[in-house]
Amino acid sequence: MNYCIVTYGCQMNVHESEKIAGILRGKGYDRESPLEEADIIVFNTCCIRENAENHAFGNIGALKKLKREKKDLIIAVGGCMAQEEGKAQILREKFPFIDLVFGTHNLSELGSLIDRRRARRKAIVSLLPEREETEDGIEPVRTSYPNAWVNITYGCNNFCSYCIVPYVRGRERSRAAGEILKEVRGLIAEGYREITLLGQNVNSYNSDGRGGMSFPELLEACASVEGKFRLRFMTSHPKDFSAELVRVIAANEKICKCVHLPAQSGNDRILGLMNRRYTRKKYLEEIAMLREAVPGCAVTTDLIVGFPTETEEEFEDTLSLVHEADFASAFTFIYSPRTGTKAAAMEGQIPESVSKERIMQLVDAVNENTRKKSAEFVGKTTEILCEDYDDKKGLYLGRNEAGRMGYFACDHNPIGEFVDLHVERANGISLFGKI
Ligand code: SAH
Ligand code: SF4
Ligand code: F3S
Repeated sequence: MNYCIVTYGCQMNVHESEKIAGILRGKGYDRESPLEEADIIVFNTCCIRENAENHAFGNIGALKKLKREKKDLIIAVGGCMAQEEGKAQILREKFPFIDLVFGTHNLSELGSLIDRRRARRKAIVSLLPEREETEDGIEPVRTSYPNAWVNITYGCNNFCSYCIVPYVRGRERSRAAGEILKEVRGLIAEGYREITLLGQNVNSYNSDGRGGMSFPELLEACASVEGKFRLRFMTSHPKDFSAELVRVIAANEKICKCVHLPAQSGNDRILGLMNRRYTRKKYLEEIAMLREAVPGCAVTTDLIVGFPTETEEEFEDTLSLVHEADFASAFTFIYSPRTGTKAAAMEGQIPESVSKERIMQLVDAVNENTRKKSAEFVGKTTEILCEDYDDKKGLYLGRNEAGRMGYFACDHNPIGEFVDLHVERANGISLFGKI
């Protein structure tokens, strides 16, 4: 039998979809297929911004006809949007053909929910308010070789005023360090060449005492696993970024010299309203400390424009941060009000036309800096971990430590190998050259 999983949202969701695939395999769905050929379709949704929800709504709605033609097809909707207050109800009303709705706290239950749905022709909605366990014990079907995702924390305690994640993912829970290390050792033994540790705020790992060690200690322990591989982690919250973490990055070759450190805004008043608990000055001091200890370390970020009450001058502080912090790249977002969050209830919501104007300026600034950072590699040699083959370009591709995408020709299939790329030219975030 065939399965198809449609994923929206962050890396955490991408990895969760790998676990969903593991569950489906256990239920006899042994082949991944396109939508039209699937016997079960699972939507793993996101609700971080309104457009993420609209995408999912559009794609689920488009299945009405398929479901009418294929009576036995099971359509399941899970993930953050399904977990959102009141959304399951809306989904069921809008799309009565949905067979199963599950949330973020009961993934391990998915197998038995599918059994129940197969046994009875009645739609099922199963959501839990909070998950207690940190180990789901689900064997993922990994899809991102040579990279492997590894969860270290679930949930988030930060309640940034714009963000829905703490409401749909629950309180922060750390996995035991021993479990994480066992997984990492296993993955390296299997041949994975890059490990990315995942958490909403990796720096607060072990805040609940369940990890057994601090994040810098965990990182160091992972880096000491035998073998040649790269270690990445995301996301770091600037409020918990520490000198100890910088020391560990500097001291361990396997840890990529690339840190994703979302700034969100370059203005202190907005950062305060966002409940981010750091200032522009503190942020800049942190990356200065990082770059002093780790020369050439790439810093990437997330930025939001149009937060309630943001003035033109305050937006310009975000704009100027791009060059001052010298970001290697940045994800830029228009603020999207999320029902139930503090910011959604604030006065002074910014009109979309203003936010659109701001994001265009910000994207230009980010692109300019991205090009500048890429140009720095031209004429140099940079190590690439080959990930894939680009059919259109007819070239292999992979990233360097700093996250730049390198393209090259090769006379054999080098996927999963480290190669030295002599960079001849750069284009945006991409580097082209010879190995
Ligand atoms: N835990 C991570 C981020 C997870 S969400 C962190 O704290 O950095 C990824 C990004 O989405 C955030 O960094 C933020 O820039 C953006 N984001 C979150 N909520 C948003 C909202 N309501 N509107 C627009 N962007 C948002
Ligand atoms: Fe959201 Fe803030 Fe938690 Fe990140 S740290 S997931 S932005 S609440
Ligand atoms: Fe990720 Fe979206 Fe949920 S960003 S944690 S999938 S709301």
